[in-house]
Amino acid sequence: MKKANQTLGEFIIENQKSFKYTSGELSRLINSIRLAAKVVNHEVNKAGLVDITGNAGETNVQGEDQQKLDVYANERFIQTLINREIVCGIASEENDDYITIQGQNEAHDNKYVVLMDPLDGSSNIDVNVSVGTIFSIYRRKSPVGQPVEIDDFLQPGNQQVAAGYIIYGTSTMLVYTTGHGVNGFTLNPAIGTYYLSHPNMQFPKEGNIYSINEGNYVHFPQGVKDYIKYCQAEVESDNRPYTSRYIGSLVSDFHRNMIKGGIYMYPKTAKAPQGKLRLLYECNPMAFIAEQAGGKASDGYQRILDIQPTKLHERVPFFCGTQSMVNKAEEFMANYK
Ligand code: AHG
Ligand code: MN
Ligand code: MN
Ligand code: MN
Repeated sequence: MKKANQTLGEFIIENQKSFKYTSGELSRLINSIRLAAKVVNHEVNKAGLVDITGNAGETNVQGEDQQKLDVYANERFIQTLINREIVCGIASEENDDYITIQGQNEAHDNKYVVLMDPLDGSSNIDVNVSVGTIFSIYRRKSPVGQPVEIDDFLQPGNQQVAAGYIIYGTSTMLVYTTGHGVNGFTLNPAIGTYYLSHPNMQFPKEGNIYSINEGNYVHFPQGVKDYIKYCQAEVESDNRPYTSRYIGSLVSDFHRNMIKGGIYMYPKTAKAPQGKLRLLYECNPMAFIAEQAGGKASDGYQRILDIQPTKLHERVPFFCGTQSMVNKAEEFMANYK
């Protein structure tokens, strides 16, 4: 039952009953993420006032320049989860390897692992454009009591128990799913509380927005080029040409497309022969949310959530959004399989 003005805290407690495992651990974990997100939000909002914009002077395992906020958000999320002794392991876009965490009394008795993109859309920080955080939660496969193993992190996305994102936009929102639909909560910054503002989010049945970095056009696979031409064709009865919108922050582009109807694409390019987006930290959580909101996520040929990951920082081409639009893009891709 969705009540007006329900807070995220109330919502978590009320919905705990619907979780497959009801020990309360998952609720506590989502609560910890909610807390870390508030702290990061506070810092993001100060960008420009304090010395938090710009390059941190390091390169991460992805070969990307780390921004100061990448590093800050990463530390904040990891520290919050460690301090609350709530997970047995964390993998992050900003860390080379996964982190093993001991629970109470130094036992490895926690059951969940978190995978995250602590700050998505880094290149937008310095220009005051929306950025985000993405998280993905799995139950460990290795026995409780032992340190986590790599296979606890390399699970296909269809094993996720929860996933979500925070968008630090004109307002800050936390959007998440535990496999029972998608709900969005907006932060009231004056009192530091998230309220259920977007219950049961669903992609509209039809969409007319396509989001892709068209600067890479010459390097796109022919199927993507053909689909872009399809989007741009003048067909009044079909609402075409579509509108092109690309922010360059996956979270923000996805969020807009989920609300308005659209498709996000990051195919293979010359610079990124496997695609740019990371399967574990970006594509799987967004794919889980998309499906729970009636959308679809594919690598152009197959369901993202069924891909068996082989390494932590694996990249994959990503087509995600309104179901009918992703189906159409797949049709074009299939012509050149
Ligand atoms: P991150 O900032 O976490 O490294 O992710 C950046 C990603 C994603 O947010 C965005 O959609 C995409 O990179 C933009 O890439 P291009 O600048 O190549 O378009
Ligand atoms: Mn990055
Ligand atoms: Mn990202
Ligand atoms: Mn990032």
